[in-house]
Amino acid sequence: MPVSMLLFLSLLCTPFSFSTVATDSVYDNLLHCLSSKTNSKDQFSKIIYSPFNSSYTPILQDYIRNRRFNTSTTRKPLLIVTPLKESDVQTTIICAKQIGVQLKIRSGGHDYEGISYVSNVPFIILDMFNLRSINIDIKDETAWVQSGATVGELYYSIWQKSKVHGFPAGICPTMGIGGHISGGGYGNLLRKYGLSVDNVIDAQIVDVKGRILDRKAMGEDLFWAIRGGGGASFGVVLAYKLKLVPVPPVVTVFRVIKTLEDNASDLIYKWQFVANKIDNNLFIRLLLQPTTIKNKDTMRATFIGLFLGDSNSLLSVTKAGFPELGLAKQECMEMSWIQSVLFWANFDNGTSENVLLDRKGGSPNFFKRKSDYLKTLIPKDGLEGL
Ligand SMILES: Cc1cc2nc3c(=O)[nH]c(=O)nc-3n(C[C@H](O)[C@H](O)[C@H](O)COP(=O)(O)OP(=O)(O)OC[C@H]3O[C@@H](n4cnc5c(N)ncnc54)[C@H](O)[C@@H]3O)c2cc1C
Ligand SMILES: *[C@@H]1O[C@H](CO)[C@@H](O)[C@H](O)[C@H]1NC(C)=O
Ligand SMILES: *[C@@H]1O[C@H](CO)[C@@H](O)[C@H](O)[C@H]1NC(C)=O
Ligand SMILES: *[C@@H]1O[C@H](CO)[C@@H](O)[C@H](O)[C@H]1NC(C)=O
Ligand SMILES: *[C@@H]1O[C@H](CO)[C@@H](O)[C@H](O)[C@H]1NC(C)=O
Repeated sequence: MPVSMLLFLSLLCTPFSFSTVATDSVYDNLLHCLSSKTNSKDQFSKIIYSPFNSSYTPILQDYIRNRRFNTSTTRKPLLIVTPLKESDVQTTIICAKQIGVQLKIRSGGHDYEGISYVSNVPFIILDMFNLRSINIDIKDETAWVQSGATVGELYYSIWQKSKVHGFPAGICPTMGIGGHISGGGYGNLLRKYGLSVDNVIDAQIVDVKGRILDRKAMGEDLFWAIRGGGGASFGVVLAYKLKLVPVPPVVTVFRVIKTLEDNASDLIYKWQFVANKIDNNLFIRLLLQPTTIKNKDTMRATFIGLFLGDSNSLLSVTKAGFPELGLAKQECMEMSWIQSVLFWANFDNGTSENVLLDRKGGSPNFFKRKSDYLKTLIPKDGLEGL
């Protein structure tokens, strides 16, 4: 375990209780500390929000993506710092340590349990939304992406430069690069290209001492850790350098829906043998949901596919490897990769690619969610019991 992680945890978590830390003194202390590191006080007063600033609440709520943590009883940060440049991140880390307040790092705010903006101890949010530049180098087939960018902005930027490049990451466009990639990042290109972290070739992180380190400077241990181990345990990720992947000009998507009455459980059972073995240009996601048909409670299985190729090639793959699905030509929809991104994110056909630049998305749900990995097959009666 890198030493910096131990330092980070022990120095930033303090024994203060909420009642002993007043926001105004923390504000003054932080501003004083930040200003002492540079010569300009004004600079920092523009990027620190206390509950007395009218923008504090909207800024806090902008990247709350789970309504469970959008209540009046949810503990609020003493301050929100919104860095405009990398050195703001460095000084904020040093000063949070100095004044003894926990620092929470937020990029897209999609953490299931809100841990980027909720805490049990007095805390400050370092909100990365201003640091979101994306530089695509098509000749080199790489991209530097700052952590405050969203996955949707990344997909959009790639598409603007090339129609035959993509990046393997998740399907929800409003997720932040900072949390998504440091946690792994899986999506519908995973069978062919692996996780997002399998395609990260460099990174920039600010460590607990406020140093900016790239891959070479941080060493392979830490570089390994911030590709799946979660960023916030190790420092603040400023940016990742990504290896872009090739996608064909035409891909094919489909959505096949079956209910229990259509013998969906046979199909689901079979899918378990097929999904990870069929041609790796084909990814098939399975969604199981309760539904009601003709006043009867039943189960609906939705098979959503992405194939890196045209529909004729797809049909020969499914006929040979998963004939039970009964995929028909008229269920196959050919489109560009960027349109498939919109399809997978549930936008209607014809929606403009610009929607990927909408950082807020729709209004979020009130949810509890957990992911797991199946290592053994679910038997047919198990599926029907479910
Ligand atoms: C609706 C929804 C759909 C999802 N779909 C997918 C999917 O298709 N595939 C998938 O793999 N995952 C998916 N996820 C999970 C998602 O990838 C994780 O929740 C991810 O951590 C979100 O990143 P974020 O930056 O938006 O979150 P945040 O809440 O901002 O951060 C999450 C964690 O990362 C830390 N962190 C954030 N930024 C930084 C940084 N710059 N440096 C260091 N640490 C940082 C935070 O402190 C926190 O611990 C989904 C989540 C939601 C809510
Ligand atoms: C918050 O309020 C203080 C005090 O009025 C002000 O000096 C500061 O500039 C405000 N911060 C922002 C980011 O607007
Ligand atoms: C949070 O609550 C406010 C009302 O207090 C509402 O305007 C906002 O849309 C909510 N945001 C989320 C993410 O639920
Ligand atoms: C479901 O399976 C049973 C038994 O194999 C079969 O008799 C029936 O026709 C099937 N129903 C459908 C809709 O395929
Ligand atoms: C999307 O809409 C366009 C225009 O309405 C149509 O030509 C095209 O076939 C549709 N594509 C799909 C995949 O439904």
